[in-house]
Amino acid sequence: MKNTRNFVILSHVDHGKSTLADRFLELTGTIPKEKMRPQYLDMMDLEREKGITIKMQPVRMNYTLDAIPYTLNLIDTPGHVDFSYEVSRSLVAVEGAILLVDATKGIQAQTIANLELAKRQNLEILAAINKIDSPFAKTDEVKKEISQLLNIKENEIFSISAKEGTNVKELLEAVIKKIPCPEGNNEKPLRALIFDSKYDLYKGVIAYVRIIDGETRTQDLIYLMATKTEGEVKEVGYFKPELIPQKNLVAGEIGYIATGIKEPGKVRVGDTITIQSLKSKVTALLGYTEPKPMVFASLYPENSDDYDLLKDALSKLKLNDAALIFEPETQEALGRGFRCGFLGTLHTEIISERFRREFGLNLIISTPSVAYKIINKKGKEILIKSASEWLDPSQVKETLEPWTKLEVMTPTTYLGRVLEILNNLEGKNIETKYFSQDKTLLIYEVPLREIIVGFYDKLKSQTQGFASMSYEILGYRPTDLVKLEILIAGKKEEALSQIVPQEKAFELGKKLVKKLKEILPSQLFSVALQAAVSGKIIARETMKARGRDVVAPLYGGDYTRKRKLLEKQKKGKKELKERGRIRIPSEVFLEMLKSR
Ligand code: GTP
Repeated sequence: MKNTRNFVILSHVDHGKSTLADRFLELTGTIPKEKMRPQYLDMMDLEREKGITIKMQPVRMNYTLDAIPYTLNLIDTPGHVDFSYEVSRSLVAVEGAILLVDATKGIQAQTIANLELAKRQNLEILAAINKIDSPFAKTDEVKKEISQLLNIKENEIFSISAKEGTNVKELLEAVIKKIPCPEGNNEKPLRALIFDSKYDLYKGVIAYVRIIDGETRTQDLIYLMATKTEGEVKEVGYFKPELIPQKNLVAGEIGYIATGIKEPGKVRVGDTITIQSLKSKVTALLGYTEPKPMVFASLYPENSDDYDLLKDALSKLKLNDAALIFEPETQEALGRGFRCGFLGTLHTEIISERFRREFGLNLIISTPSVAYKIINKKGKEILIKSASEWLDPSQVKETLEPWTKLEVMTPTTYLGRVLEILNNLEGKNIETKYFSQDKTLLIYEVPLREIIVGFYDKLKSQTQGFASMSYEILGYRPTDLVKLEILIAGKKEEALSQIVPQEKAFELGKKLVKKLKEILPSQLFSVALQAAVSGKIIARETMKARGRDVVAPLYGGDYTRKRKLLEKQKKGKKELKERGRIRIPSEVFLEMLKSR
């Protein structure tokens, strides 16, 4: 154990974690050079194409320093804010972290957010500036920022180029010298902390674990403490990054246990695995909280015959994406689909992309909204994931919505523009920190609803991509929320309802009916398009009848025939009107869902 080091690389998105990991893999001979491809640890095609890491991927490497062989376990982590949950899980399994900062960009919002997570775990932190080879590198300036942020001397910071390999060896050797070896006792009963899992058809759920105490081997009869589930170990081993079986796993190691358990829900991240016969002798490790989806969207297959395929795909994705939740939803206008919970909008985007690639499914996804809460008159708290779950106003005592602590880091040159965006949000400024002459960190408290749609894009476009953001959920706070309903020709269209803050209902209602007027195909008679709150109409547009020119083809034709046609048309209009039926193509619903 004294020759083992467990560590992660933390950084803001795109600062070069995966590239640095590639150099480590090469340097340690873990992946032979001829097999090497860029961002090796990004196993999904999607990850490689988007150039971002979505799933963390542990890997074991061997390295000899001063004639002593070391085992190094690296967990590559995602840098995007939606996946900070993945980061927090991997941090529990390691003793140290490399904090990597891009020399062309300097510290950014998630550099700070990740650093805070690492500090909470008391990790040893090594700071490194990457991309020093770039002509745009501002290495000295960034050194100052980091030294101020971490309160360390500038000469303690590594200056590297992950691309060219400069100083990468020195950094890897510092991991050995500076990061403490894991502690733990092989003689104690097994305690293995699950930090991730994946499903295997034959071996059951494979738990990714850090062995805290004890050891485990094939055929051990194991017990999962939180879910009180028993299993028999089918295989244990380590990551290279593919699974490599080995005889046993001992305290301090990172590896996998194939649990033989076939129900994925029983193997939960944060749970402790022990040995059945020893279970009364151990206390469970302090797990970590389950990820809470905060953003909800409806998913419908473009082709309604694909519903079962979608259902199956969701269950499969759920196996290695604990944060994804879903339940069936049926909308008269759209057919059968699912209401799904995601960590954030990028998570939503990635899941839909995975559906397309891995399952050949084209989906229609509504604009995401947040999960609200209602306290009913009996004092019971109800989570509202979709407008259709909203209660009748007579039963509502209080309504709440999630708030976040939003951190935006921007070069001072763009401060004016960023402030303009931020001050337009509901919420308030909590703190402003000036980092170097040219970096400002703005901390705000805002409703989550304000930042899930379009905010990030706006921030990026107004600052030429230089501002960055990160957010953390603070909890639910009271807000006056109402259900905004849309009526077409007097009939309520539930699929178009949404939950909105009371003071925005009027403005939004107006916008929605206007939009509807633009996209609804005109009918043979005039149609009222209305927005209502609690049964009261708050906005209205009238779509004028657009009589089809039925007589036009009869150019110069005889009069009786013209009259006959006009009469027929009149009769048809009357019938339609009486039946009160309007044909609303499903594209209209989809367009409305997307444009909220
Ligand atoms: P996420 O996984 O999305 O968090 O990104 P990442 O931090 O893993 O970054 P990645 O390794 O994918 O690198 C991002 C981009 O920076 C890629 O285009 C790399 O080629 C480039 N890059 C990484 N290291 C260096 C470097 O040392 N020098 C230069 N010039 N470019 C680099």
